[in-house]
Amino acid sequence: MTVVNIGVVGYGYWGPNLVRNFAETPGMNLAAVTDLDPKKLEVVKKRFPAVKTTTRYQDLLDDPGIDAIAIATPVNTHFGLGLAALKAGKHLWLEKPMTETSDEARQLVAEAEKRKLVLLVDHTFIYTGAVRKIGEIIKAGDLGETLYYDSTRINLGLFQRDVSVISDLAVHDFAILDFLLGEHPSAVSASGINHFPGTPENLAYITLFYDSGVIAHLNVSWLAPVKVRSILIGGSQKMITYDDLEPSEKVKIYDKGVSFTDDPAQIQEMRVGYRTGDMWAPKLSGMEALRVEGEHFVDCIKNAKAPQTDGRLGLRVVEVIEAATNSMRGRGEVVYVQRDANDRRQSKAPRRKYDHGQRTAQAK
Ligand SMILES: NC(=O)c1ccc[n+]([C@@H]2O[C@H](COP(=O)([O-])OP(=O)(O)OC[C@H]3O[C@@H](n4cnc5c(N)ncnc54)[C@H](O)[C@@H]3O)[C@@H](O)[C@H]2O)c1
Repeated sequence: MTVVNIGVVGYGYWGPNLVRNFAETPGMNLAAVTDLDPKKLEVVKKRFPAVKTTTRYQDLLDDPGIDAIAIATPVNTHFGLGLAALKAGKHLWLEKPMTETSDEARQLVAEAEKRKLVLLVDHTFIYTGAVRKIGEIIKAGDLGETLYYDSTRINLGLFQRDVSVISDLAVHDFAILDFLLGEHPSAVSASGINHFPGTPENLAYITLFYDSGVIAHLNVSWLAPVKVRSILIGGSQKMITYDDLEPSEKVKIYDKGVSFTDDPAQIQEMRVGYRTGDMWAPKLSGMEALRVEGEHFVDCIKNAKAPQTDGRLGLRVVEVIEAATNSMRGRGEVVYVQRDANDRRQSKAPRRKYDHGQRTAQAK
């Protein structure tokens, strides 16, 4: 295969970003676009006259010249459209979140593996220069032991009718955490609310617990007066801030931290040493994430590789969404995350036991 011929399904808000990037991705040919709304297809025809447009998805499935299908339609259609694409022998690019339920996600993963087709879930953040750089820093051990992840993702957002703010916004953090930590959370506690009757939850606070000792907290909302996209990652050696709204210097690394004495004679005195060193901002790749991701998709198809955001990552994210949603509907009760028996990444040895601060026995 010299060129991957791709058809895009859905030309609403996100679909045009896929179409624009796929049209420019080396090794990819934007062959067709389908949407139920003929008016949207008129816009495609104007911008890309050579691209085939149709309101019938079946036309793409029946076209033997189409190698891959990208689905950018509402979440409740992902499973049906995605399964049909795989059954027609097409490689699949599926928007996040992959499906509404983890059972559906598992079926898509199995179908793609059975047919040896590439299944990429579009968790776009994983392909940004910022997240990739943070991944390099953590992997190199520069942060020391990762201790916590704290994210604020709020704005006066577009209220979705079909999914909650967890599926819309926290989904990005679930994917970033999976990529950075290489670990599935063991338990989740989430609280949230819908301020408008009959609509999905528009605000949520989520805590994720990991066996290794990492704790993550996410604050997501469509009802905030200002837009904030900021993440703090604390390590035993260094700490990172990531402000996605910064035009440059999105990522900053601080040589700051504390150390506690190991001397049992002094342990009751809470001997703590503070370290405040330099701050630096690493250079980040400025290439658009969807372009990086498009090239990666082509490479995976041509060389039979698994994408960095493959169906298994997509499935783990859906498992976390399910657990967080169940917890939220139980007013924050702890929910243990369902684990996929095939996930070989879960055997991280605990670095420490939670002792809930009882170590000091000095209640304040
Ligand atoms: N990766 C990201 O960062 C990112 C960002 C935004 C949205 N998304 C995802 O993209 C997907 C689409 O979101 P959106 O905001 O563009 O939605 P949207 O409602 O704006 O657009 C969906 C489009 O799909 C069309 N459509 C629906 N069913 C169809 C079908 N059966 N066949 C053909 N066309 C169909 C609709 O007519 C509409 O034009 C969602 O899964 C969303 O989560 C991802």
